[in-house]
Amino acid sequence: MSETQYNYKVVRQFAVMTVIWGIVGMLVGVVIAAQLAWPALNFDIPWLTYGRLRPLHTNAVIFAFGGSALFATSYYAVQRTSHVRLFGGPLIGFTFWGWQLVILLAAITLPLGYTTSKEYAELEWPIDILIALVWVAYAIVFFGTIAKRKVKHIYVANWFFGAFILTVAILHIVNSAAVPVGPMKSYSAYAGVQDAMVQWWYGHNAVGFFLTAGFLGMMYYFIPKQAGRPVYSYRLSIVHFWALIFTYMWAGPHHLHYTALPDWAQSIGMIFSLILLAPSWGGMINGIMTLSGAWHKLRTDPILKFLIVSLSFYGMSTFEGPMMSIKTVNALSHYTDWTVGHVHSGALGWVAMISIGSLYYLLPRLFGRSEMYSVKAITLHFWITTIGIVLYIASMWIAGVMQGLMWRAVNEDGTLTYTFVESVKATYPYYVIRLAGGLLVLSGMFVMAWNMFKTIGAGKAVEGEIPPVSAGSGFDAPAHA
Ligand code: HEM
Ligand code: HEM
Repeated sequence: MSETQYNYKVVRQFAVMTVIWGIVGMLVGVVIAAQLAWPALNFDIPWLTYGRLRPLHTNAVIFAFGGSALFATSYYAVQRTSHVRLFGGPLIGFTFWGWQLVILLAAITLPLGYTTSKEYAELEWPIDILIALVWVAYAIVFFGTIAKRKVKHIYVANWFFGAFILTVAILHIVNSAAVPVGPMKSYSAYAGVQDAMVQWWYGHNAVGFFLTAGFLGMMYYFIPKQAGRPVYSYRLSIVHFWALIFTYMWAGPHHLHYTALPDWAQSIGMIFSLILLAPSWGGMINGIMTLSGAWHKLRTDPILKFLIVSLSFYGMSTFEGPMMSIKTVNALSHYTDWTVGHVHSGALGWVAMISIGSLYYLLPRLFGRSEMYSVKAITLHFWITTIGIVLYIASMWIAGVMQGLMWRAVNEDGTLTYTFVESVKATYPYYVIRLAGGLLVLSGMFVMAWNMFKTIGAGKAVEGEIPPVSAGSGFDAPAHA
């Protein structure tokens, strides 16, 4: 491969795997959603029990689907906004194959019951070491490419991708510190409430950096590209970048309200969560307003629909999150399905939709075509996904508030009005509606896979040409990229 061409091979590999892992992860999501409605669906097989499949779902959708989307888009955007080929030689392939190996090991060990029991960090220590190695290689490839860039300015998307890569490395290494006592068993290096604090410092920043900062990088590259407009306010992008990364770091204790964590620490978590509304909405407004002067494109362009609706969900979940962090609100929402609704308005509405929109932009360009094989299929995908997500989150919101109210209802003599099982029974119809929503979202992913393989079949793998002369400050990038 010559230095006059971008490296699209690794982008293609990660892009295709994003769709595959999306299907796998969401399929497991559908299975556990069905198990919550009909528990007998575990068929009394230990590997298929809810407790083992749930972490399989979260790991598959966050790290396999979301992770592959982040690798693909960051590798594409960093080359194109830097006007150089990816740095790192064999390390590039190592990040792809290493990451796939991590996913495979997760898919084997989680159903077998190996777990650290730390949410979103369940994988045991040998896999954690592999993750750390892949991540260091990723950082070398990404920052090495930035270092050899031919465009003076570092475009804002790369700031978000860079912050995501650096922070995830720190979070992973600190939270995974453990004492191994066997090949697949370890004990956390922390104890008691400190362990909980480190875990949720990790957990919330996994939301902030894995599920948000990297996807904001995606937003800053793909929305201006697809809309054909420069970023609405470049100044705002920088202000909300620093505000976001500073504020996220302190919000973790909102996961530990009313626990043994000192009250002042809980209050810090709540206050920083409330402040977090501002930088989050700064990003959402900047993304949506980038469409200024191009609003009419929303009527006809289904890719733009995915990208812009994802931002509406981002705005919704980052309004809801700060509200749920208020202690008195959390007293109602915690332990209920309200949290699960919030999670999926962020994870499906924001993370999955922005990834899908970005992939529809990317795939034809990676396979030498001007657009996807079927644009109608993208429109179909958009509508079934949107309806599916609305069914999912609306049913969980209603179920969650209902559960919270039932659990706290007391009779005049101080006894509980409802038994726990009555609240479970009342939730049943909402679990069925959530399952229907999940099935719609999953079927949309199958439409996408069909469209992707048709696009691949009708095209051929291509490499992008690097412009011979790099000019401009890049402030309006990615218009020039
Ligand atoms: C077809 C789509 C999906 C379905 C049907 C689905 C279903 C589920 C179900 C049933 C749960 C367990 C809820 C509980 O324990 O009560 C869950 C949890 C979770 N899912 Fe999904 N999911 C889907 C897509 C996604 C995606 C794309 C992501 C992330 C990008 C995601 C992230 C999560 C997370 C983080 C949790 C844990 C939530 C918590 O601990 O509160 N899901 N999902
Ligand atoms: C301003 C931004 C946000 C704030 C302040 C926030 C706040 C919160 C709060 C208070 C909870 C409930 C904690 C509990 O009761 O245990 C929560 C749960 C959660 N949120 Fe958010 N949220 C925000 C944005 C998001 C976004 C954009 C996503 C996804 C992309 C997300 C994913 C999650 C997940 C996965 C959980 C469940 C954690 C667990 O218990 O397993 N959040 N969030």
